[in-house]
Amino acid sequence: MKILVTGGAGFIGSALVRLIVREGRDRVVNLDKLTYAANMASLAEVEGNPAYAFERADIGDSPAVRAILDRHQPDAILHLAAESHVDRSIDRPAPFIETNIAGTYRLLESALDYYRSLPEDRRRTFRFHHVSTDEVFGSLGLDDPPFSETTPYRPRSPYSASKAASDHLVMAWGHTYGLPVILSNCSNNYGSCQFPEKLIPLMILRGLEGKPLPVYGRGENVRDWLFVEDHAAALLLILRRGQIGGTYLVGGENACRNIDVVENICDLLDAMRPAAAPRRRLISFVEDRPGHDFRYAIDTARMRSEFGWRPSVTFEEGLRRTVRWYLDSEAWWRPLLEARYDGERLGLARQGAEGAT
Ligand code: NAD
Ligand code: DAU
Repeated sequence: MKILVTGGAGFIGSALVRLIVREGRDRVVNLDKLTYAANMASLAEVEGNPAYAFERADIGDSPAVRAILDRHQPDAILHLAAESHVDRSIDRPAPFIETNIAGTYRLLESALDYYRSLPEDRRRTFRFHHVSTDEVFGSLGLDDPPFSETTPYRPRSPYSASKAASDHLVMAWGHTYGLPVILSNCSNNYGSCQFPEKLIPLMILRGLEGKPLPVYGRGENVRDWLFVEDHAAALLLILRRGQIGGTYLVGGENACRNIDVVENICDLLDAMRPAAAPRRRLISFVEDRPGHDFRYAIDTARMRSEFGWRPSVTFEEGLRRTVRWYLDSEAWWRPLLEARYDGERLGLARQGAEGAT
């Protein structure tokens, strides 16, 4: 099969592209606009491989996307391209509306037009798999049951609202126009090649440089951590065997308070790259994220019962591997810190959203 991955130069997309090429079973076309979040260095191992092709395009550029679909003739689209950082969505929602909502709408139109052009036998196996987030379900209290496939949508940030809108559009294109869609919603990914605006890489790199480690609020918010390579494997299972119109929740079965994550990172750094003083001393509690969702948790029963899928990496092992990767990969992250993002605080909503467009 040939899979067109959107957003394949990003964090999860690049892990997925690398997995597809390593497996040697399918071919992959990476369609990516190359925003600030993209890094072609994450794809070094697949460059030049005949099973891999790259196309630079915006998912919202319908003529370009339609031409790419015609040229490459994919059997499936795995849609990951998005603006993905909650704090940036608070400062400047416009690109989230443009890419996640309008871009997904235009991609759906291109995909439907392409799908209708396919012969009957290829239409039967074609899939449009949309990759979304558990944040569309809102925020849990400590005693609430985890999110499941039937949890109502209650997004609370500009990012999660834009992803919720895209999920609804995808399902509507399935119900109304018969596009064979599948949806998956996953928890917080971590691992190699994650842009250093996100909690785990930010804390590793700041800890390495002896800078304060900004923990929002009291650090008691809970996230479920999913190793990115486990997520990539789950996505391929869902694409190949998932039910048309189905929703699949993918979680790491690793719920953890932010403060515990940051303390763990400090201890791993101390062990792997000793410093004069313990890094826990760098932890600094700072003003909370506006509208900060308290807790996410995922019921992975459907993934287990339908596919026998379980996360293969414990958080302890995954975090150790992640810290090791950042220590060994300065050539990957140093240019990002110098040219694109130096670790400053984002998402304080100092100006209204309208003023920030
Ligand atoms: P990322 O920010 O690391 O990468 C996004 C990629 O999409 C980048 O390569 C970027 O260049 C590309 N892109 C952005 N706008 C585009 C456009 N208009 N046209 C074409 N390409 C565009 O994101 P990620 O963390 O890898 O997330 C991938 C997907 O998974 C997103 O849809 C995100 O909402 C979802 N998701 C992420 C997480 C997580 O923890 N990172 C968890 C749940 C869901
Ligand atoms: O749950 C899935 C979502 O996980 C994805 O849909 C998003 O794309 C992804 O970015 C992630 O969203 P979060 O907001 O949970 O991730 P982030 O890494 O930004 O923050 C994780 C937690 O850490 C959150 O509670 C906020 C907190 N935090 C974050 C940063 C950047 C801090 O305490 N300090 C920080 O400096």
